[in-house]
Amino acid sequence: MLEAVRKAGSVKTFVFTSSSTVYGDASRIPTPEDYAPLKPISVYGSTKLACEAMVSAYAHTYGFNAVIYRLANIVGPRARHGVIYDFILKLRKNKNQLEILGDGKQTKSYLHVNDCIQAMLLGVEKARERVEVFNIGSENQVNVQTIAKIIAEEMGFKVKLTYTGGVDGGRGWVGDVKNMLLDIGKLKSLGWKPRFNSEQAIRAATKAILREIY
Ligand SMILES: NC(=O)c1ccc[n+]([C@@H]2O[C@H](COP(=O)([O-])OP(=O)(O)OC[C@H]3O[C@@H](n4cnc5c(N)ncnc54)[C@H](O)[C@@H]3O)[C@@H](O)[C@H]2O)c1
Repeated sequence: MLEAVRKAGSVKTFVFTSSSTVYGDASRIPTPEDYAPLKPISVYGSTKLACEAMVSAYAHTYGFNAVIYRLANIVGPRARHGVIYDFILKLRKNKNQLEILGDGKQTKSYLHVNDCIQAMLLGVEKARERVEVFNIGSENQVNVQTIAKIIAEEMGFKVKLTYTGGVDGGRGWVGDVKNMLLDIGKLKSLGWKPRFNSEQAIRAATKAILREIY
């Protein structure tokens, strides 16, 4: 993409969807954009960070602006991957029991896709630096156990939750960040505010996906 932008020569702003995973297991929660050092713990997070570096170098070298968004977990209609969709599929197969990867205590921030889009549009409009970095997330966290309960409730099932126990202190998988909340003060100071908190976003996304697939 960056090569295509360089060759075209007419692109004003390049937008990159990076991820909260660039922060790794951050010692500061909520984590601000200027948190350092960035030590991703997954290959996914490290490729996002490498992409950020390339975006910055290309923007400075070839004279275009870039906006980098570090997204929390984005949920909403039409999602066909991620924790909500996975749990719905598992519960369709077995409505009595749901297996959760890890210890279920992974605690993260979830944002509704509509809030994410508003944030992205505002970020592009308000960006002033050659390369501007914005966190995008909600203002609170929810754990996986609570997500499972919300989804089971929305599907009308009474389920027994079981846990795989996970790896490395209850992570769902190697490289799973257990505790994530982004400091969204930078975008809020420009006039954005999420309408939904994490639970509301999960519930709205669950209702929407259930409507789509049933
Ligand atoms: N969903 C999240 O919670 C989240 C969080 C952090 C970062 N991100 C990043 O945001 C981006 C979008 O995520 P998503 O969850 O919407 O993913 P997604 O898989 O739902 O959507 C990706 C889209 O890209 C399209 N696509 C894939 N390869 C393409 C190609 N070669 N040319 C044109 N289109 C192509 C797919 O058809 C799909 O519509 C990704 O880069 C992801 O890493 C997502």
